Amino acid sequence: MTIRTAVLPVAGLGTRFLPVTKSIPKEMLSVVDRPLIQYVVEEAFSAGIEQVVLVSSRSKSVLEDHFDSHVELEMALEAKGKDELLQLVKDLTPPKGRSISAVRQSAPLGLGHAVLCAQAVVGREPFAVLLPDDLIWTDDATPSVLTQMVEQYEKIQASVVAVMEVSPAQTNLYGVIDPSNPDVSKGDSVIKAKGFVEKPSPDIAPSNLAVVGRYILTPEIFPLLANGKKGAGGEIQLTDAISALLEQQSVFGYRFSGTRYDCGDKIGYQKANLALSLQRPDMRSELLPFIKEQLASWS
Ligand code: G1P
Repeated sequence: MTIRTAVLPVAGLGTRFLPVTKSIPKEMLSVVDRPLIQYVVEEAFSAGIEQVVLVSSRSKSVLEDHFDSHVELEMALEAKGKDELLQLVKDLTPPKGRSISAVRQSAPLGLGHAVLCAQAVVGREPFAVLLPDDLIWTDDATPSVLTQMVEQYEKIQASVVAVMEVSPAQTNLYGVIDPSNPDVSKGDSVIKAKGFVEKPSPDIAPSNLAVVGRYILTPEIFPLLANGKKGAGGEIQLTDAISALLEQQSVFGYRFSGTRYDCGDKIGYQKANLALSLQRPDMRSELLPFIKEQLASWS
């Protein structure tokens, strides 16, 4: 079955980014000149997704506005002959056959609960989940991470979760895979799981392969989420439901190609801005001398 739907949980309060997130959703924070939400929506559409479902909350309607047409702005740009900008704005609305809709998560009960809120829209099909905090950059020669994962899903017809190696001291920040084969070698990109643990402390972590924000899940996950059992942090965790899913079917970790930036964190966010602006030839020529100057003044 093809993956038609992508669920994007965007209801979080963004407390790690206060004060800016008091009135601006963190998904609207910009990396270079695009808000974080745009990177994941573009990644989803580039992977063949037909419908993007935002799991949203009150005060987040600006996210939907970003992908809606803005007649006044378009008319003004047209009148001034600013064709390039006009195209940029028009390209934000989903093309024919693609859609962006929203459902509400009325209480902050956790990532697992957010995904459950999209059940009626997803239906009984496998679907993708993308967390906008995780910006995963791939160069022009490499397909997007979700595209890579859809390809894996088509081969193995089972749930696939993106994983990457992290420092063993950082396992308490992530969901962590317990690989079936403990001797998982660096060359293995597809890793069969026997369990997943949400935010384990380093002394009990089953591996240092952390789950990052891209998932392809089978619909059998929904009843497990609906059980509503609270896990780490008193929240309904997606990781716990994926671990429970292993009692019925296989789940695989997928070591992707790409660079992940944790844009839910101030340092990761700055790294993303720096790295992505240096990719842009028009910005690099001015930024590089500036960075060198800064480095010299600090040494
Ligand atoms: C969430 C998930 C966690 C995953 C992480 C990736 O945690 O619960 O399993 O490893 O995203 O970014 P959060 O960062 O929302 O605390």
